Amino acid sequence: MVKVNVSGCASFVKDAEYKLYTEKALEAFDVLAGEQGAGNDFLGWKHLPSETPESLITECEAIRDSWKAKGIDLVVVIGIGGSYLGARCAIEALSHGFAKQLSRKDAPEVVFAGCNLSEEYMAELMDLVAERNVGCVVISKSGTTTEPAIAFRIVKEYIEKHYKDASERIVAVTDARKGALKTLSTQEGYRTFVVPDNVGGRFSVLTPVGLIPILLAGFDVRAMLKGAEEMEKSLAERSENNPAVVYAAMRNLLYSEYGKKIEILVTYNPKFQYLGEWWKQLYGESEGKDGKGIFPASVNNTADLHSMGQFIQEGERVMFETVVNIEKSNRNVVIGTDEQNLDQLNYLAGQHVEHCGAMAQLGTKLAHIDGGVPQMEVSIEKIDAFNLGGLFYFFEFACGVSAYTLGVNPFNQPGVEAYKKNMFALLGKPGYEELGAALRERL
Ligand code: PA5
Repeated sequence: MVKVNVSGCASFVKDAEYKLYTEKALEAFDVLAGEQGAGNDFLGWKHLPSETPESLITECEAIRDSWKAKGIDLVVVIGIGGSYLGARCAIEALSHGFAKQLSRKDAPEVVFAGCNLSEEYMAELMDLVAERNVGCVVISKSGTTTEPAIAFRIVKEYIEKHYKDASERIVAVTDARKGALKTLSTQEGYRTFVVPDNVGGRFSVLTPVGLIPILLAGFDVRAMLKGAEEMEKSLAERSENNPAVVYAAMRNLLYSEYGKKIEILVTYNPKFQYLGEWWKQLYGESEGKDGKGIFPASVNNTADLHSMGQFIQEGERVMFETVVNIEKSNRNVVIGTDEQNLDQLNYLAGQHVEHCGAMAQLGTKLAHIDGGVPQMEVSIEKIDAFNLGGLFYFFEFACGVSAYTLGVNPFNQPGVEAYKKNMFALLGKPGYEELGAALRERL
């Protein structure tokens, strides 16, 4: 399960300060556990792993099986932010790195839309759609978010034009009662799944928002929920050694007392690139408010050591790192001997590539600590559905503890409305005329 190691911060902080911030984090833990804090009507995610009924998974499997019977080989998943990043993260983490290029395919290909407003992206997506047998999962809790709504209008029009069984090829994940997508689904007879009222977008990966795309992509969501459930149990204990408390205490200490305003989530496997994206939304949207918050950034090493490494080593000393450490590789590749040894790598002959990765990780850790960058490690045994479920739950729970330690409501996001209002006004949406005129004067 998830382990947190803060020894890479020891030389930067004083024991007494860490003790004080552990006490603060434990108070925050009590607020989260007691469900009495700000935003406490959005705590449904806490019990998802232990309370998700088996019937939900079998309903999702029924869609997978009926789409398989139709020969569907491309699933377009439409969503943005919390209605997108968790599924993408899991699918990228669990997929074969070259699944697209390999001919063996035991599940449909999952692609994403509605997460940008690029016309070119949409046009190219439709080129792909035209060549394949298509199903669509549209995900929007509110049912009114512009980006997915536009993508869905385009994909839906295509599906209706090209398939007689159009309504059987569309699944909606949305609010139980309200919103445009709910209304449309009822009218058209789409299979619908509910985003629970008490679960916010960025905490929704273990609801149908994440589970359906992940399952359709061929992955074991039962194992994912099992891993999350074990984490749920182990994080329930009030202890200064609780990994969520340790993580929350140290990051708040580094931020509040040492001016470490940026946290970089560091991964060492390309499959975890989107873990960084998911984590950035979770922490950025939960903590960045009221003029406070650690700015979440991410790098994927060793690639980014060749781009961001210089700054992290010697740039402004405002950051700390949280390294996601994977203890065991799922695959083995050994480096061979070369007679000429022109690349001078024979000293590595017989070694696993993973060994080189581990030494790069260790060398980077020591170099960054020497360069003034404190480092924490969040470790999992290996990349699989079980461990990923545990990691999702760990980061969600730790986020709640950390945001309460910081003194903000982890579960709202009032700031994301500002751009939306301006966009609506500039697009000429009815009701936004006055703001539109005021904005155009400024341009
Ligand atoms: O975390 C959040 O609340 C947001 O990122 C939302 O998930 C995102 O804006 C999409 O919203 P919706 O699911 O309502 O379309």
